[in-house]
Amino acid sequence: MTMPSLTTEYASPIPLQARIATHRKHSEHPDDPSTAVLAALELTGTEDLADIGCGDARFLADLHAAGHTGRLVGVDTSAAMVAAAAAIGGVTAVTGDAQNLPFRDGEFDACTARHMLYHVPDPLAALSEFRRITRTGGTVVVVVNHARTCHYTHQLVAAHARNHGLTPPDGMINHTVTSETLPDMMQNVFGKTIIETHDNALIFDQPRPLITFAEALFTFYGIAPDAPPRAQILADVTSEIEHWFASHPGQAWRDPKGYTVATATR
Ligand SMILES: C[S@@+](CC[C@H](N)C(=O)[O-])C[C@H]1O[C@@H](n2cnc3c(N)ncnc32)[C@H](O)[C@@H]1O
Repeated sequence: MTMPSLTTEYASPIPLQARIATHRKHSEHPDDPSTAVLAALELTGTEDLADIGCGDARFLADLHAAGHTGRLVGVDTSAAMVAAAAAIGGVTAVTGDAQNLPFRDGEFDACTARHMLYHVPDPLAALSEFRRITRTGGTVVVVVNHARTCHYTHQLVAAHARNHGLTPPDGMINHTVTSETLPDMMQNVFGKTIIETHDNALIFDQPRPLITFAEALFTFYGIAPDAPPRAQILADVTSEIEHWFASHPGQAWRDPKGYTVATATR
């Protein structure tokens, strides 16, 4: 059995895309984190921008499609994500680690790190790198989740993984990086930081999309795609979710979530 890791989780963009699609479709209040980041950036369209931990680079693709003329650079440690970014016209894709970025001092007008700092072992080193590659007067925007984001669904998956002797693999999530801790980290590296908090919830009124979302969390709890008990765990998760809906007629599964956008001027 392959041990789940950040490398295996992001070996394909599909589980990440499944989670993003769930948030788009099943949030209690419509709220796209990209809109919040764009508001914080106040771009004119000519800035050179580096997006660190860019994932499938949809954020940069949208900027390019909107007519952004400055350099758009997507950086990721995952070969699959770098390949996805490289396939987008107008985007330069770079393999790199947030803690040691392959760029010159002050090379960018803006730097973003959206939903990635909680994967980094040394977040202060990464924040220092974001500061280093951004020119004086440029903008750095970092987004991370609240500590208990989607806690009920995470707990459900964790419990079923534990029943089969599986535990969260080391090094996938750095639990010290949350909405609650980010403001102090940013303050340490940048000084004055603007903090904006977005509270929301996932809402499911049927079992199927919740089961799909739960399954997209499996690797974070040690359930690799080729884990022998995976099919049984999926059956157990499915049965518990279906039972919850059957015993709560007319009720929706509501799982609070939220994120923080931290913005600093270099
Ligand atoms: C949750 S995804 C977020 C992707 C994208 N920013 C988004 O919001 O859709 C985290 C991304 O960070 C990348 N990543 C993890 N650790 C990294 C590191 N140390 N340096 C650069 N990228 C990293 C992963 O490969 C993955 O693509």
